[in-house]
Amino acid sequence: MNITKANKVSIKQAAGIIKEGGLVAFPTETVYGLGADGLNPIAVAKIFEAKKRPTFNPLILHIADVKWLKKFSSVKSEKVELLISKFWPGPLTLVLPKTDVVPDIVTSGNETVAIRMPDHPVALKLIEASSTPIAAPSANKFGHLSPTEAYHVAKYLGDKVDMILDGGKSSVGVESTIIQFQDDKFYLLRPGGLSKEEIESEIGKIETGIVDPDKPNAPGQLLSHYSPQTPLKFFNKKYLDKNKKIGMLFFCEDKKLFPFYKTKILSSNGDLREAAANLFSFLHELEHENLDLILVESIEEKGLGIAIMDRLVKASNKKF
Ligand code: TXA
Ligand code: MG
Repeated sequence: MNITKANKVSIKQAAGIIKEGGLVAFPTETVYGLGADGLNPIAVAKIFEAKKRPTFNPLILHIADVKWLKKFSSVKSEKVELLISKFWPGPLTLVLPKTDVVPDIVTSGNETVAIRMPDHPVALKLIEASSTPIAAPSANKFGHLSPTEAYHVAKYLGDKVDMILDGGKSSVGVESTIIQFQDDKFYLLRPGGLSKEEIESEIGKIETGIVDPDKPNAPGQLLSHYSPQTPLKFFNKKYLDKNKKIGMLFFCEDKKLFPFYKTKILSSNGDLREAAANLFSFLHELEHENLDLILVESIEEKGLGIAIMDRLVKASNKKF
């Protein structure tokens, strides 16, 4: 088993793995995280692959220094600063407007990014030594419980990660509380290790409703799914119309099916990690072309192909 006791040497080694685009499971005060370089889209794709998630979910960027925040978020708010000064490092994740530096695969194409500074010396040293924010979901397989000890991670993900840093038992034991800041208001997206009351004692009332303008008042619904604003369909000859501006998203080769206005290829050698890493950015690019229609090629639902297809099917079901 690749469990390694966290110390100066192993943390340095783990940071090397992160910098090279590998996966490291590491302790935080809430639960163990499955970490990758948050600025390297291919490394982030490996997280989804390892977790076997059937969907893409936006990930939390873990930082080691408050000064890093402005690189990844454009937020300017005294209340946000107050929360940070009171509760970071700690089990509070803030969903904030993102900057262009944050890859689309981290945010699932959303304009917001979730950021937190964990309160665990091993996590902080690892992030610092990696000199990059670490994107990490809880280090469990999809549908399993979140891990609070190194061996929990080893049990389910042992063969999927390059190293598991053992920093003892997570002291909080439940995931961080997530709040979103939008239009000068705070919304609770997930209750967690920091109570709502504690947060409210600093900044006043936070909303528990949802932010999604399409689905007002449906609790639990997050503004976490980006879909292109252009109609999107799976390729079918019946959609080919010379009078329309049509874009095409191929999997691995341009099949020259039609004089498309714009074509994109997710991965020229058919690599699912690269395809996943490109998915949201390519959809954004196609969306910005003012097309009448985006056509997409379906891909085999295997490994990361499952999550990619899930996203495309959802986008194709969107009503206009
Ligand atoms: O305590 C924690 O938060 C742990 C440790 C490892 O930091 N991490 C964790 O990550 O629980 P994860 O991926 O299991 O849960 C993060 C949640 C997901 O439900 C995701 O949808 C939400 O955060 N999230 C992330 N980015 C978001 C965004 N931009 N907008 C809305 N929700 C977001
Ligand atoms: Mg989780």
